[in-house]
Amino acid sequence: MAMAALDTSCCLVGPVPFNDVTKDDGQTVVSLPAEHADILSTLPSIAVGPDLQLRQYQGVWLRDYMVAGMISVQRRFMSRPGDVLLASPPKCGTTWLKALAFATMARTTYPPSDADHPLRRLNPHQCVPFMENLFSAGQGAKLEALPSPRLLHTHMHYSMLPPSLADCCKMVYVCREPKDMLVSMWHFLKSAGFNLSFPDLFELACHGQNPYGPIWDHVLGYWAASTARPERVMFLRYEEMLADPVSTVRQLAGFLGVPFTAAEEAAGTPADIAEMCSIDALRSLDVNKSGNNGLFVMFGRQTFFRKGVVGDWVNHMTPEMARRIDAIVDGKLRGSGLAFTPVGPLA
Ligand code: A3P
Repeated sequence: MAMAALDTSCCLVGPVPFNDVTKDDGQTVVSLPAEHADILSTLPSIAVGPDLQLRQYQGVWLRDYMVAGMISVQRRFMSRPGDVLLASPPKCGTTWLKALAFATMARTTYPPSDADHPLRRLNPHQCVPFMENLFSAGQGAKLEALPSPRLLHTHMHYSMLPPSLADCCKMVYVCREPKDMLVSMWHFLKSAGFNLSFPDLFELACHGQNPYGPIWDHVLGYWAASTARPERVMFLRYEEMLADPVSTVRQLAGFLGVPFTAAEEAAGTPADIAEMCSIDALRSLDVNKSGNNGLFVMFGRQTFFRKGVVGDWVNHMTPEMARRIDAIVDGKLRGSGLAFTPVGPLA
């Protein structure tokens, strides 16, 4: 059921759920802004299976509507002091990070113990907007309705961010071991009806041509930013979050300038947030069992919660495939100080 839009002209403090401040106008049709048609037609393109075409924009392989959305973000996004940007390659824990960051930042307004906490009635993607998706549908102005501080999300590479975002916002980035990310991406594309074999997606990824690829460029951009300005860019790995979610919640709170008080620690608030945002808790909610998220119409809400484990690649890749992509990624990351720890039988 669509909620009535909140009146944010009073003194609301963010973050508040995006869905509560924007009228659910039911718009799910993505029409590409005509102004981008000329640029799109000049970009290199590849067919990724019979029903998926990607174009290369600023070195990144994307579907047309994402190119349009990113161009619009680059031209039109207006940052505000206090904005917090969550960034990730797809299928690396975005949904989880949205839930954790929202629950942590908004815990004064919405304590995790509340039975009607926004994350118990909304999907995490309805709480934290996906910027380029919104802009691709000409709805970027909706972000103005959010009270500060705003919590926003992007899959854009660091090099593509408009300067106002890259220079002013705090950012939290999450990445994942690339083999598991690819497996997750394949399941996700399949769930949306794309006709693509895993070996085909794998082959594309080895050439940097998977959606939002090259993987290594995505990760290296934010890695470099986080080492240059650790007070501005926090770098998380999905595997480390899974190993200790409560520590992740504490780190997030500290980084975002809202560390837990002694009273909150004594009350178990960090553990309550981690529990509320766990994959089992989220996927058991009615809101996450069916339906879709407006502009995300082709992806059912339940498809964002699959296994949530480390090492599922062994069920899809031969050891030879694994060694091949590990060698490619290792080579690309060499000298950066970043490496992915081997997981599974090759470890
Ligand atoms: P798998 O497909 O490997 O299970 P994204 O949110 O970026 O689309 O990433 C989706 C991946 O994160 C999926 O991985 C999904 O199962 C996992 N995931 C979603 N919510 C999670 C949570 N609360 N905790 C851990 N993993 C989660």
